[in-house]
Amino acid sequence: MFNLTPSSNQFIIQKNGVEVFLKREDLLHPLVSGNKFRKLKYNLQEAKKQGKDTILTFGGAFSNHIVATSAAAKLSQLKSIGVIRGEELGGENLEKTLLQNHTLRNAKEMGMQLFFVDRETYRNKEKQSFIEALKNKFGDFYLVPEGGTNDLAIKGCEEILTEADKNFDVVCCPVGTGGTVSGIINSSYEQQHILGFSALKGDFLKDEVAQLVKKKNWEIIIDYHFGGYAKVDRTLIDFINDFKTHYNVLLDPIYTGKMIYGIFDRIEKEEFTKNTRILAVHTGGLQGISGVNKKLIKKNLPKINT
Ligand SMILES: Cc1ncc(COP(=O)(O)O)c(C=O)c1O
Repeated sequence: MFNLTPSSNQFIIQKNGVEVFLKREDLLHPLVSGNKFRKLKYNLQEAKKQGKDTILTFGGAFSNHIVATSAAAKLSQLKSIGVIRGEELGGENLEKTLLQNHTLRNAKEMGMQLFFVDRETYRNKEKQSFIEALKNKFGDFYLVPEGGTNDLAIKGCEEILTEADKNFDVVCCPVGTGGTVSGIINSSYEQQHILGFSALKGDFLKDEVAQLVKKKNWEIIIDYHFGGYAKVDRTLIDFINDFKTHYNVLLDPIYTGKMIYGIFDRIEKEEFTKNTRILAVHTGGLQGISGVNKKLIKKNLPKINT
């Protein structure tokens, strides 16, 4: 069903006595890349086991999760429905939206049925009454929550670290909902320290993650959100473009770019002890760059070079 490129660890840098390797989960699959494959794998198996023929999920207009779910469902011979935040994007504006929005166009091309709802309705995405209303409208489906995080997603993310990663002292991962880092924590070795770099502003993710894991060998770093979720500035763009030039690896500006910036900053400030070996997980998300670049052009900022 999925022809996967096994994820490999690419050496990036040795500085101030610290070595950094990048786990190239972004190369796993062209459409279902990074943590998305890990999160969806057992959910798709479960959908089939339950005899469901449709996956329904939620997301914003540039969501990596929406595109990945549309592609993964198609590859698994399942139908997919995406409930998208932003009523104004649908209806008579749909044609224009699809022309301008690469994420939603890709999802549609993968056969996803797009259902646009206003922001207030979208906030009910976890309410049983809203789910029932969606079942009345679309018929039965297998529900994958926004961002794809649930117990089966965490189980899939436990497969990111392997036996071969045992000798890394620190494992770093970007955090949105906390599912990916929770899987990594669950499968980490006792002597390893897991650092989750929050893509969101605020200090609430440590409580979310604490509910999902039992181990204590982790920490959520909250200093590298660049103003909040999906916020970018010139410093971050320059960093991502320089990184591409030096290491020939493209980073996304919402998750992995901010994490790698944070790791480099901490190395610069000598916050890691000498001889620390760091493994940073590249969780993909590269499809979102074209949407970010459109915003950057409007703000007269440089683009991310792809
Ligand atoms: C590319 C990418 N990296 C990292 C994350 C964060 O993952 P999680 O929501 O499991 O914390 C996401 C969001 O799902 C993502 O799209």
